[in-house]
Amino acid sequence: MNKLKILISDKISEKGIDIIRTLFQVDIKPGLTETELIDIIKNYDALIVRSETNVTSNIIHVANRLKIIGRAGVGVDNIDVGAATKKGIIVVNSPEGNTIAAAEHSFAMMLAITRNIPNAHNSIQKGEWNRGLFTGIELYGKTLGVVGLGKIGQRVSKYALGMGMNVIGYDPYINSGLSTKVGINTIKLDELLRNADIITFHIPLTNETTNLIDKKKFNIMKTGVFIVNCARGGIIVEKDLRDAVVNGKVSGAAVDVFSNEPIKKDNVLLGLDRIITTPHIGAATKEAKINVAIDVAEQVRDVLLGGVARSAVNTPN
Ligand code: MLT
Repeated sequence: MNKLKILISDKISEKGIDIIRTLFQVDIKPGLTETELIDIIKNYDALIVRSETNVTSNIIHVANRLKIIGRAGVGVDNIDVGAATKKGIIVVNSPEGNTIAAAEHSFAMMLAITRNIPNAHNSIQKGEWNRGLFTGIELYGKTLGVVGLGKIGQRVSKYALGMGMNVIGYDPYINSGLSTKVGINTIKLDELLRNADIITFHIPLTNETTNLIDKKKFNIMKTGVFIVNCARGGIIVEKDLRDAVVNGKVSGAAVDVFSNEPIKKDNVLLGLDRIITTPHIGAATKEAKINVAIDVAEQVRDVLLGGVARSAVNTPN
């Protein structure tokens, strides 16, 4: 009997591939264009991606054998979930595998911007010794506004409490006035923006969260606020963030994610000392890469063998 076929179109950990390799035919083809995917997807029963492959409705439309799309990571904004649902294809993700990596990177970025670490590093590399230039602020005693209180937001809140910060939270899916598991009181978004010294984002990119933070929202923030975004590009209007940094409303921003990735050389968030950037590496730890690959490979295996997926994000017919 012919083996069912799985296409892996982004790089994922071998530990995940090992789970499916002996049971199915596994083809690993990173870097395919949309046209190339459209050409070959009809041959596959399952597709596994990270965030580089955009699984568009054009691809899904011709994916007549496809039963499942596995996203080795949490965000499914690179998959047209609506089109998959209509076509009867299950979409699964790995909601927990990246949590620690993403929370730790958010914290690393928060410390890096508030203590000027990248700029101090660049300066000393040039042979300079400018101790006075890099005076930072302490996190202790500051108010951290956590936008999005899912697993990552709650973990960041926990770390912040451990550092002696006051934490306030907003979540579009939790009523304000409630207290989360880690003891964070939820408030309305504007109240959080008005009161936080540092604001960190942990929400997915959806229709509701696209351009959530624009010029109007920056205007209600405290002057001198710091911004950390290791969640998704597109939540913050990039030009408005740049303007807010240039005009001093925002003291500094740390950004791991961009509206269009990979970014172009003329991206508005580049070229300023007060905006530090990393190339979407929030989930890039050895541990997280293994976690998400195993999680998704197990679910793809289970579904292809007639079982159920533990983390489906849709309910196709
Ligand atoms: C995620 O959604 O899991 C992260 O953004 C990391 C990624 O897959 O690139």
